[in-house]
Amino acid sequence: MSDYQQQLLDRLHNRTAKVGVIGMGYVGLPLAVEFARAGYHVIGLDVLPEKVAQLNAGESYIPDVPTETLAPLVQSGHLRATTTYDDLVDMDAISICVPTPLRKTKDPDMSYVVAAADEVAKVCHPGLLVVLESTTYPGTTDEVILPRLLGNGNHLTVGEDLFVAFSPERVDPGNPVYGVRNTPKVVGGVTPACVEAVTALYEPAVDRVVPVSSTAAAEMVKLLENTFRAVNIGLVNEMALMCSRLGVDVWEVIAAASSKPFGFMPFYPGPGLGGHCIPIDPLYLSWKLRELNYTARFIELASEINTSMPYHVIHLVSEGLNEDCKSVKGARIGVLGMAYKRDIDDVRESPALDIYELLETKGAHVSYNDPYVASVRLSGERVAESVELSAEWLAAQDCVVIVTDHRAYDYDFILEHAPLVIDTRNATNGHQGRARVVKL
Ligand SMILES: NC(=O)c1ccc[n+]([C@@H]2O[C@H](COP(=O)([O-])OP(=O)(O)OC[C@H]3O[C@@H](n4cnc5c(N)ncnc54)[C@H](O)[C@@H]3O)[C@@H](O)[C@H]2O)c1
Repeated sequence: MSDYQQQLLDRLHNRTAKVGVIGMGYVGLPLAVEFARAGYHVIGLDVLPEKVAQLNAGESYIPDVPTETLAPLVQSGHLRATTTYDDLVDMDAISICVPTPLRKTKDPDMSYVVAAADEVAKVCHPGLLVVLESTTYPGTTDEVILPRLLGNGNHLTVGEDLFVAFSPERVDPGNPVYGVRNTPKVVGGVTPACVEAVTALYEPAVDRVVPVSSTAAAEMVKLLENTFRAVNIGLVNEMALMCSRLGVDVWEVIAAASSKPFGFMPFYPGPGLGGHCIPIDPLYLSWKLRELNYTARFIELASEINTSMPYHVIHLVSEGLNEDCKSVKGARIGVLGMAYKRDIDDVRESPALDIYELLETKGAHVSYNDPYVASVRLSGERVAESVELSAEWLAAQDCVVIVTDHRAYDYDFILEHAPLVIDTRNATNGHQGRARVVKL
């Protein structure tokens, strides 16, 4: 074992290590907080000065991180935020948690990862551990991160005086049971020494660390997990489309199938995929495989079905209004829920945005309510604001579409006052009212 490795392990074990986390978003902030709670001295870096100012004031902007948890860590000096990469110059470990979106062409946009890696290369020094957490295609850590860290005039040897690893973030925003600490952390290093170092980094902060044999295996673990979800959601969405044609209630079918104690796991249909993981990550994998002349057929098919779901919702709205001798054009349509899933404030890739704009395109007068989303940006720089969920508003709509099944909603109240409800989540199951309900 090299002296640098021994020093790094000692600092991680006795918690004197300084840890930098790049990207203070849904992933980076909860991770930084868990590192700080474990006793490390943590610097969170973000390019947005307003986020940094808020964090340094001890205020959280991520619902899963209560201000009551964050503030004492800031006050005790265990966590501070910065916009300056120079502040990371004496870190023992750095985690990169920046976005990995898709370009308009559906190809991976690695620009954030590359920008962060180039900055880390400038503060690279012997004994540093660098961990990529952003979801990405297999090969990124070795092919994109490593050459940058070893370039820039840094005369370092990976596994001896520089340690590089990948560890997929598995955060599930809004999950009341599983957070950073009690979700096992998969780690893969460039060399065995890198695995040892990254394991030592996470062990004080998470209940269980799961090492795998390479960075590419760790990258692939995340893509398997999210592809598994995307494909199963695609399958159950297609079941919903088939049940609709057969006149069968898909929700009843899933509930009954779930009684099987082995070999079945329920997934639920919905208005379409949202968030920055499930709709995007599998496409990182299919993009990489295209380079190797392989077509990832399950991924492509699931993506095709899942992206068609907002159009199916528009079809249900149109059919529902038709029963009342009304057209979508000119109808007042209320959308309930803008977030991509229940009880969170994240609207990235939300199918509600598609549904809202598709209805508008067809000439409907659309408005929305979401207790977590005060306003949303629509195409053409337009902004829509959440309206109050009043009896008057519900009664004034020709149709109300439940897109996100927030637990805060009073579904009896909604069914009592809205004339027609299109329920894309089975949220009204077991609730009563005067509304005519059409379920996905
Ligand atoms: N949100 C999730 O549920 C989730 C779950 C698992 C994995 N992931 C993955 O984690 C990564 C981060 O996702 P997120 O949801 O936290 O994104 P986010 O947009 O919430 O946060 C990313 C942060 O990085 C900052 N940033 C961008 N470029 C930067 C740079 N060069 N230097 C410093 N900061 C920079 C942004 O300002 C932002 O605050 C993505 O790869 C995503 O796919 C997300």
